[in-house]
Amino acid sequence: MRCPPPLQIGPVQVDPPLVLAPMSGITNVPLRLLVKEHGAGLVCNEFISGYGLFHGNARTQDYLLFEDSERPVSSQIFGADPAKMAIAARQVADRGADILDLNLGCSVKKIVRSGAGACLLQTPLEVYRVVAAIIAAVAIPVTIKIRLGWSEECLTGLEVAQGCQELGVAAVAVHGRTATQAYRGVANWARIAEIKAALRIPVIGNGDVRTPQDAARLLATTGCDGVMIGRAAQGNPWIFSRTVAWWQTGVLPPEPTADERLDTALRHGELMLHYKGPRRCAEEMRKHLAWYAHGLPGAAAFREQVNAAPSWEAQVALVERFREALQRFRAGAAAPLD
Ligand SMILES: Cc1cc2nc3c(=O)[nH]c(=O)nc-3n(C[C@H](O)[C@H](O)[C@H](O)COP(=O)(O)O)c2cc1C
Repeated sequence: MRCPPPLQIGPVQVDPPLVLAPMSGITNVPLRLLVKEHGAGLVCNEFISGYGLFHGNARTQDYLLFEDSERPVSSQIFGADPAKMAIAARQVADRGADILDLNLGCSVKKIVRSGAGACLLQTPLEVYRVVAAIIAAVAIPVTIKIRLGWSEECLTGLEVAQGCQELGVAAVAVHGRTATQAYRGVANWARIAEIKAALRIPVIGNGDVRTPQDAARLLATTGCDGVMIGRAAQGNPWIFSRTVAWWQTGVLPPEPTADERLDTALRHGELMLHYKGPRRCAEEMRKHLAWYAHGLPGAAAFREQVNAAPSWEAQVALVERFREALQRFRAGAAAPLD
């Protein structure tokens, strides 16, 4: 499989066409920097409340922060009130984001109850009002991230994507599930292919890409212009570097070694410490350390210990202890961790 051509989103070139999916609570600056270093063409931040921005909420505005080395960066907002979303969109553009993405896929109850996220897929006309207001408010390209529809009985994804294309949306990311499906079942790539075939603008396929082979298969079977990767990037920025290397050389690099995983986990924690401070770092690194250790012998015991550790320093000591236990294990000792 040769390297697919860059993805063009308005004036923004995404090369390679591999995109880190927005994930609330996960795709903050530290993960985005690591994923970028591993060759992702585009990173997206965690989704941001358009209403929070509208009301000048300082914590919401913090989500707009990014480093220049992350560029191009897509900032995603959610909300359903066209006038407020237009003001929020202007803030996103003023903060220097390269792309503004509208969330039309979130199926979390709190968001849906507010009429935002995937709830809007039930009322395409409401989507168009919000999209038209945003497009009129900013000069940067506007994209949407959708699901196939609200439910099997309400498969409006294609209609919404076509309507938004006519309004001037620059690209569409499609998660191949419905909102009522949440994350159950399998992403339906055939339906992503139908949406791709019906649009002129670039389409980014998303859902269940777990390996470089999956990324290539999604492109081949859907005809999509790009691939978006979410959960498989958790504790695994190598999903990007291995895919890119495979495309460029035809040789699939091996999985990272245990040492590489732990080294990157430590680096992730140092970045977290820098950007989030000691308390948030220790809290947030629990899940990341578990992801980096996943599948290694003794990972369950390591996870338990990390969850009980009071600080990042204590977590670092546990990582080093885990590393030594793994070395002993490789040398023939029985239990990797007690
Ligand atoms: C923990 C978590 C948080 C997510 N947060 C967002 C979000 O803020 N905005 C969004 O559009 N999608 C969000 N998603 C959905 C992902 O972007 C993606 O569409 C979904 O996980 C399917 O892709 P995957 O199979 O590669 O994970 C989230 C997913 C997860 C697992």
